[in-house]
Amino acid sequence: MKLKKFLLYLGLAAGAAAFRPAQSTAQQPAAKSKFVIGMSQCNLNEPWRVQMNADVAKAAKAHPEFTMLNKDAQNNSLTQAGQIDEFVQQKVDLIIVSPKEAAPLTRPVSEAYKAKIPVIVLDRAVMGDDYTMFIGADNKKIGKAAGEYAVKLLGGKGNVVELKGLMTSTPGLDRHNGFMQGIAGSNLKIIADPDMQWLEPNARKEMESALARFPKIDLVFSHNDPGAHGAWLAAKAAGREKDIKFIGIDGLPQEGQAYVAQGILDATFQYPTGGQEAIDYAWDILHGKTVPKKVVLKSRVFTKENVAKGGEVLP
Ligand code: FRU
Repeated sequence: MKLKKFLLYLGLAAGAAAFRPAQSTAQQPAAKSKFVIGMSQCNLNEPWRVQMNADVAKAAKAHPEFTMLNKDAQNNSLTQAGQIDEFVQQKVDLIIVSPKEAAPLTRPVSEAYKAKIPVIVLDRAVMGDDYTMFIGADNKKIGKAAGEYAVKLLGGKGNVVELKGLMTSTPGLDRHNGFMQGIAGSNLKIIADPDMQWLEPNARKEMESALARFPKIDLVFSHNDPGAHGAWLAAKAAGREKDIKFIGIDGLPQEGQAYVAQGILDATFQYPTGGQEAIDYAWDILHGKTVPKKVVLKSRVFTKENVAKGGEVLP
């Protein structure tokens, strides 16, 4: 009898439980298993950015539950701001953005974040801290190491042309400030420092102008490898490339590393794209894990001496 009562009780309890789920699912939606990730790339006309998208795509392939929506802002901050707004309207599950410039992208990123869409900011920063996390290498450290290497290459003295990346973007500012720290106390003199906005054709034109104005240029520090290559082309056209040392940043195998191996550049500093890490952290965020606010990626230096061996990690 006792057992019968117990079984009846069990049956009732099971029946009640069978009715309850309708209520509890209404309160707690089942965990999502498919996610849409919107990615806004500031420009796809540069090898490094093509590489970043390839790294993201490769990492995302390992997650069939991710659908990537890729947008190219074609080097226009307003277009890019509009792309973030569209992702918010579409209610994507997460946004990855590699911003062109800090100020114009701050508002849309902040609004997305406030609309509870997680945002991963990659490589170039925005202002404030209304975003989920930032991933990028330490541009100040890279700039400083480039400065110290320049001092070493020139034996502490010489005329330098600095080809700046877009100064309204954070890597441009940080690479410049780091370089100034690296050459502090030496007799390296910056005789020209135009903003080539990260673009090789601009760098080539700026270098042509510097070559016309200065009979003695000992070294070019360009904030990226396309700029360093543009400067080298200008120097070669003027027959002066052998008198000048060239340092760049990015260090892609098919670009900067190849230039070093060919003797075009004296050194390049790797600027990792962070594509793989962005997808790894996106997965964590979408599965409710806590992520760091800032992830700093390691960089390597490639010189004539070490390029064949894969460069050296910056301490
Ligand atoms: C490409 C690029 C790279 C550079 C990075 C800095 O747009 O200019 O060459 O390292 O952006 O954000």
